[in-house]
Amino acid sequence: MSRNATIEIDGKKYEFPIIEGTENELAIDIKTLRSITGGVTTIDPGFKNTGSCESAITFLDGEKGILRYRGYSIEELAEKAEFLEVAYLLIFGELPTAEELTKFHNDIKDQAHVDEDVKKILDGFPKTAHPMGVLSSLTSALVAFNPDSVNVDSEEEMYNAIVRILGKFPVLAAWTYRKHAGLPLDYGDNSLGYVDNFFKMMFKKPAADYESNEIVVSALNKLLILHADHEQNCSTSTVRIVGSSNAGLFVSISAGINALWGPLHGGANQAVIEMLEAIKGDGGDTKKYMAKAKDKEDSFRLMGFGHRVYKNFDPRAKIIKVAADEVLNELGIEDPILDIAKGLEKEALEDPYFVDRKLYPNVDFYSGIIYRALGIPTDMFTPMFALGRLPGWISQWREMRLGKEPIGRPRQIYIGETHRNFIPLKKR
Ligand code: CMC
Repeated sequence: MSRNATIEIDGKKYEFPIIEGTENELAIDIKTLRSITGGVTTIDPGFKNTGSCESAITFLDGEKGILRYRGYSIEELAEKAEFLEVAYLLIFGELPTAEELTKFHNDIKDQAHVDEDVKKILDGFPKTAHPMGVLSSLTSALVAFNPDSVNVDSEEEMYNAIVRILGKFPVLAAWTYRKHAGLPLDYGDNSLGYVDNFFKMMFKKPAADYESNEIVVSALNKLLILHADHEQNCSTSTVRIVGSSNAGLFVSISAGINALWGPLHGGANQAVIEMLEAIKGDGGDTKKYMAKAKDKEDSFRLMGFGHRVYKNFDPRAKIIKVAADEVLNELGIEDPILDIAKGLEKEALEDPYFVDRKLYPNVDFYSGIIYRALGIPTDMFTPMFALGRLPGWISQWREMRLGKEPIGRPRQIYIGETHRNFIPLKKR
């Protein structure tokens, strides 16, 4: 039975269909609102109540703390899958067979290099440049070296662009770090797994052999999977909206990297560690920082806390908290800021300010502690998030393109001056 919603404006009633998703979410389809009402629109700053698309990729229920990629729970994927399997699942909709996975990985390996001239661009950046800015610039620059990845319409052209970016992006991310650290650029070793090879590209010392570390690879694999997609968040919406103008995959991803950089989004992982370090440096006084976070006159926020969609708990944060303990234990590392983080979480979970606003630790609260234990420097945390989110951005871009979605172009309600006559300069 079809269901409708009625909107009444100035005594006149208008009917709109209600659509239902496979998880029984309901939405009022207002596509015809402007045309049938003669120009009435909706307003929803921050899109808190606006669905921008129908998507079959990721389901999340913020009230129940559920996150699933293509129907598979995040808990199971983080425990049992490899990052590239998850990338394939997100992009193409099904878990790959062994054969499909091997072909996918081989196609990516075939593209795991960039034009030597990219090094010249990298050289132009100061060593102090933030890696996210460098990474987004280099990702855009890839277009110049791969012009046939721009106008991709057929599934085959899309596939080629997808394996290219999956091959080249880890090289760019690792090089961004190596430049920053003053290390020679390294191409890694294609006989290694995707995650292991990335780690080698990052950290191999010029005069020493690289030794794979299972604990490190497994922790990184888990973190990348947990970050791989999160439906219509800020950076993903950016990727979809840029791509909706028929801009190519690489520049759409570059735009997503910039959106992710902000501290309210992916940049929070760096901000969390900086905050925990500041608390430690300040004598570990968590109460003082809790008070600052609650003070409306103070712009300080408890970084790594709160989420637009999760109003119960962030299932990724639960997994990462356990993983942080495990990784530190396995690597024999003691990090005092883990205790500060746990202390802050405990206080927040008992504090009416946080409880009433349903503010819980999010994915970024404990992830930095693991990155740090793996030897990844603080300003590379957000690039790590970007590497993890890459398959999500790709799958959302592909879905949008195959679905032939219209160009993204929101409306507004104009609240500025009404018409007025121009005043010549001398008379102003
Ligand atoms: N510390 C203190 N107060 C907070 C926090 C926080 N971290 N987060 C939200 N609030 C308060 C906020 O001041 C507001 O209070 P009031 O109702 O009195 O005005 C209320 O909680 C609702 O917050 P909001 O800003 O309206 O919520 P939002 O959905 O627009 O923002 C958020 C979500 C994630 C941007 C926000 O919670 C935040 O700034 N958190 C800190 C940054 C962070 O950790 N970001 C990572 C997000 S998860 C990873 C990702 O997807 O990138």
